[in-house]
This record gives sequence, C-alpha cells and structure tokens, in this order.
Amino acid sequence: MTAVEGARVYLRTGCAGCHGREGEGGRAPRRAPRLVKVEPGPDVDPWAAARILPYRSPYATTVWDYINRGMPLNREGTLTADEVYALTAFLLYKNDVIAEDTVLDAQSLPQVKMPNRDGFAPLPDWQPGMPRLPGYPY
Ligand code: HEC
Repeated sequence: MTAVEGARVYLRTGCAGCHGREGEGGRAPRRAPRLVKVEPGPDVDPWAAARILPYRSPYATTVWDYINRGMPLNREGTLTADEVYALTAFLLYKNDVIAEDTVLDAQSLPQVKMPNRDGFAPLPDWQPGMPRLPGYPY
C-alpha cells in the first residue's frame, strides 16, 4: 500500500472529519490533533514539531499499531490491515518520511527509518523492585 491509496482511505474512513482534510488538526468541537508537522522540509527537529506521532515516533510500526488499535475514534477495529498500511504510508509521506510511491507492507514497514529514531534516551534494563522513572509516564 502507498500514500496514494492512503489519501483515499483517509477521506473514505472519516479521518478528515476529525483531523482535517490535510491532517492540519480539527476545529471545535472535534479537536483532534494535527497529524502533519507544521514546517515544510525534511530536516525539522522532531521535538520542535509538536506532538506528531507519524513524525516523532521512533518506529513506523508504532504508527501502524496506533491507527490499527485506536482509530477511527469510536469506530476502532473497523479498518483492514491494508487500509492501516495505506494510512500509515499517507501520514509518513505527508511528514516527509517516505516517498509518495513507497510501498508499505509487513516486510517494508519495520525497515522505515524514522527521523527521530535516535532521538530517544535508552531505557535502563528493568530489575525487580525498581522504582518508576521520575515523571513516568509523563
Ligand atoms: C471522531 C474523531 C476522530 C476520527 C474519526 C479519527 N481520529 Fe485520530 N484522533 C482523534 C483524537 C481525539 C486523537 C487524540 C487521542 C488521544 O490523545 O488520546 C486522535 C489521535 C490520532 C493519532 C495520534 C496523533 C498523535 O500525534 O499523537 C493518529 C496518528 C490518528 N489519530 C490517526 C487517525 C486516522 C488515520 C484516522 C482515520 C482512520 C483517524 N485518526 C480518525 C480523533 C479522531
């Protein structure tokens, strides 16, 4: 599945109704978050680009998993696996992570190098009795 198919799925499955036609975020009363970074270009600091899962996430598989489990809100579980690949491709394309014709499937999705892949501090190995990290979850 590619971003081209994803653009159609995005409209057909109602994402645009909450997140805006271009992923710019919803207006009241449906204040769904932006899905596309604000600044154009490939080299935006992911931490400066607001909370944009399809840009900031360290792994593309996390984006697929989030959409698969959590979206569309109130109709979770209604998307096929291919629709989720298409939507993931669309959102990664809109965030300058992949090209418009990049095919995402079970093999290629884990190979995507996210721009913030190395931007996360490593977690210490958990040991029994270890306290939660300060401020966790955030
Ligand atoms: C009924 C409104 C609604 C619809 C329809 C909807 N969403 Fe969402 N979406 C939300 C809300 C609200 C959140 C924030 C949820 C939260 O913070 O717990 C969200 C969060 C997200 C996020 C995570 C954003 C981030 O940076 O954390 C993604 C990705 C996403 N939606 C994709 C989609 C896709 C793809 C579709 C279409 C299949 C879709 N959404 C349909 C309301 C909606």
